[in-house]
Amino acid sequence: MKAVYVLNGPNLNLLGVREPATYGTQTLADIEARLKTRCQAHGLSLTFRQSNQEGDLVTWIQEAGAAGIPVILNAGAYTHTSIALHDAIRASSAKVIEVHLSNVHAREDFRHHSMISAVAAGVILGFGALSYDLALEALIAQSQTTKS
Ligand code: DQA
Repeated sequence: MKAVYVLNGPNLNLLGVREPATYGTQTLADIEARLKTRCQAHGLSLTFRQSNQEGDLVTWIQEAGAAGIPVILNAGAYTHTSIALHDAIRASSAKVIEVHLSNVHAREDFRHHSMISAVAAGVILGFGALSYDLALEALIAQSQTTKS
């Protein structure tokens, strides 16, 4: 593993001010800075992106899949609705770790189903911003084990 993509979906640009009781006070820039430091320590290049457009996420997943780069994906609300993201992961064979800040299973019913989980390599949720760090640690640990 030489590179990692971290892709963020709708409304995650508002992290830090958006419902802090649910999502915490760290901004997306805070998370990016921390993951960048960790990636640098492991000689990994980090591509960190956010979009409110579903199609952007589809394009970036395809891009990562074609390049064989694993993806840490917080698809936001598209998690619960997007057949297009499900298909993009399948079609591109991208290795995706699904992450959520909140424990979606402890929230509204409409958040209990994920279109991503069935095609994800793993799912980490409910640890706030730390969910991203844990996903990165999982990818690093796996790559050290498998030397892929
Ligand atoms: C989220 C959970 C989703 O249900 C929600 O729509 C989000 C954020 C999370 O990180 O907890 O936008 O993905």
